[in-house]
Amino acid sequence: MAATGGTTATVVGGSGFAGGELLRLLAGHPGFEVAQATSREYTNKTVGSVHPNLRDLDLRFTPPTDLESVDVLFAAAPHGVAMDHLDEWQAAADTVVDLSADFRLETEAQYSEWYDGHSAPEHLDDAVYALPELSRGDLPGANLIAGGGCNATATILGLLPLQEAGLLDDAHVVVDVKVGSSEGGAGGGPASSHPERSGVVRPYAPTSHRHEAEIEQELGLSVSFTAHAVDMVRGASATCHVFPANGVSGGSEDSSSGVSTGDLWSAYRGTYEHEPFVDVVAGGSGVYRYPEPKAVAGTNGAEVGFELDEDNDRIVAFSAIDNMMKGSAGQAVHAANVALGFEEAAGLDQLGLHPVGSP
Ligand SMILES: NC(=O)c1ccc[n+]([C@@H]2O[C@H](COP(=O)([O-])OP(=O)(O)OC[C@H]3O[C@@H](n4cnc5c(N)ncnc54)[C@H](OP(=O)(O)O)[C@@H]3O)[C@@H](O)[C@H]2O)c1
Repeated sequence: MAATGGTTATVVGGSGFAGGELLRLLAGHPGFEVAQATSREYTNKTVGSVHPNLRDLDLRFTPPTDLESVDVLFAAAPHGVAMDHLDEWQAAADTVVDLSADFRLETEAQYSEWYDGHSAPEHLDDAVYALPELSRGDLPGANLIAGGGCNATATILGLLPLQEAGLLDDAHVVVDVKVGSSEGGAGGGPASSHPERSGVVRPYAPTSHRHEAEIEQELGLSVSFTAHAVDMVRGASATCHVFPANGVSGGSEDSSSGVSTGDLWSAYRGTYEHEPFVDVVAGGSGVYRYPEPKAVAGTNGAEVGFELDEDNDRIVAFSAIDNMMKGSAGQAVHAANVALGFEEAAGLDQLGLHPVGSP
């Protein structure tokens, strides 16, 4: 099976987890033709020798130093690579979609604060932060697209309706994210090895997680963020504890100024009613009554939901995504679809599996 379509694409970092997922999506995309997938370690090996789900692809890895001219270059290399190689990538492709953190933040000062600086700050102004639900209008024609981080995506999607409804103004926000092991990439190191990871609920970034910078930048508020590594392969689940300045109905002395469950339904429905990839899941019946990564594994879908805690003047907002899809490769393809004028859901209309084991 070879991909067909008129728009040519290269995947730099094609041997990694996100690169493999990009190749899977692009191979099934009606508008893209995969021209090249790069890997230094696996140069000349077939893509299927690394990604067993892609054995039918007639494609071998090439070195990233040997780039063909294509329409779109998707980059799924570790942080720091894109900023060092952007000029050559842009010489090879009209559009660069980078999945790393290298062009997500707006200023060099942010990179000095949250990362180890930036080697190509002159390109920061050109980049569009790609969480299409947030930045759809900026994507058409963009030639440098920075895919949002997985934990940031989950968090922003959970909080966005509250922000748009003004409920985050002066609110206190605490975010707890649980993530699967694929977030660490194929070369994830000892903390991601199966014996060490199996069975854990491990706080790995209790404070100062780098995605905090993206969340604060995109939502314009301060959040207290903690991340846990849990025993999943795929998935990111955000639980956001929001304490609105005016309290909530029934839970504040002046309950008339607070938010009600009806307000929350209006906010979430209003924000996501027309979004192809976001479902509101809040209550109801059955086992899956709130957002759950297992329900969206393998899809570009996100589930968001909420519950009002009147006793504690708190809104609990939830969000669940597959980090390999809505949190990386799926989001990148969605953003490219918008940027290039394809149908938004082109190549992204997979339904999930049920039942599945740990995703
Ligand atoms: N995993 C996720 O859930 C997730 C979510 C959102 C964003 N991301 C971002 O996506 C990127 C890839 O993540 P991943 O999880 O797929 O990592 P990964 O599995 O470790 O893959 C990294 C890929 O980059 C290639 N690479 C490494 N150094 C390179 C260099 N100097 N030049 C060109 N290619 C190089 C590697 O292949 P060779 O060494 O063989 O060249 C490999 O194909 C990262 O920036 C990550 O932050 C990942």
